[in-house]
Amino acid sequence: MIGSVLVGSNAQIVDVILNLHSAGYRVLDTTWGKGNFWMPHQERWQVVGLDIEGRPGILARASYEALPFKDRVFDAVICDPPFLGSGGKNGLMVGKYGINTSMKALFISLQRGDGEFYRVLKPRGILLFKCMDTVEGRRHVWTHIIAPSLFRSFRLRDLFIRPNGVTAIAWNWANQTHAKAMHTYFMVFGRRKQRPGPALAAPLMTLL
Ligand SMILES: C[S@@+](CC[C@H](N)C(=O)[O-])C[C@H]1O[C@@H](n2cnc3c(N)ncnc32)[C@H](O)[C@@H]1O
Repeated sequence: MIGSVLVGSNAQIVDVILNLHSAGYRVLDTTWGKGNFWMPHQERWQVVGLDIEGRPGILARASYEALPFKDRVFDAVICDPPFLGSGGKNGLMVGKYGINTSMKALFISLQRGDGEFYRVLKPRGILLFKCMDTVEGRRHVWTHIIAPSLFRSFRLRDLFIRPNGVTAIAWNWANQTHAKAMHTYFMVFGRRKQRPGPALAAPLMTLL
């Protein structure tokens, strides 16, 4: 039985989710980074890697907003974008995983990606989106709640939580305003039969 809380490496979790939801083996990882979603020497998935930066292991350097692939070729598309705002410019994670200028900019970019993910996926294809909620300017940004409105060409099919760690309650929390996110989400979206028209578009600003 596969539960909604998955403990293990990202590669193990991606493997479990693809086994459960993907109808085939052809996978496009659009935000390759270090390729940590793939166990070394795994042969089960035929993975094509893409990243906007020149990362080792990728097939193409491109943005998921303009994918250099034909229509309907992949069974699964993966998107794991950077969730650090520009505030973390000098951090270790930034060199490894990139930054976005703001969460709003990231959401607009993902909305642009929506049509491309739809186009390169086969009719029964899935989009696997990894995200976490963040705090920006002392406001909670509920990315996992906003995500279904960004991917209009998809329907949310499943959601998994990966705990990142456990923190003991600290007693020096006087300046803390929100719970610190200690988990990430893996969201599985199924491709709709048809892309919805503009009338169904959720106004992004009402969600921010
Ligand atoms: C959180 S990291 C991905 C980590 C990756 N899953 C791994 O296993 O190492 C985000 C990656 O997305 C890339 N990226 C950011 N914007 C992108 C875009 N528009 N298209 C493609 N890749 C993008 C960054 O260069 C970075 O490598």
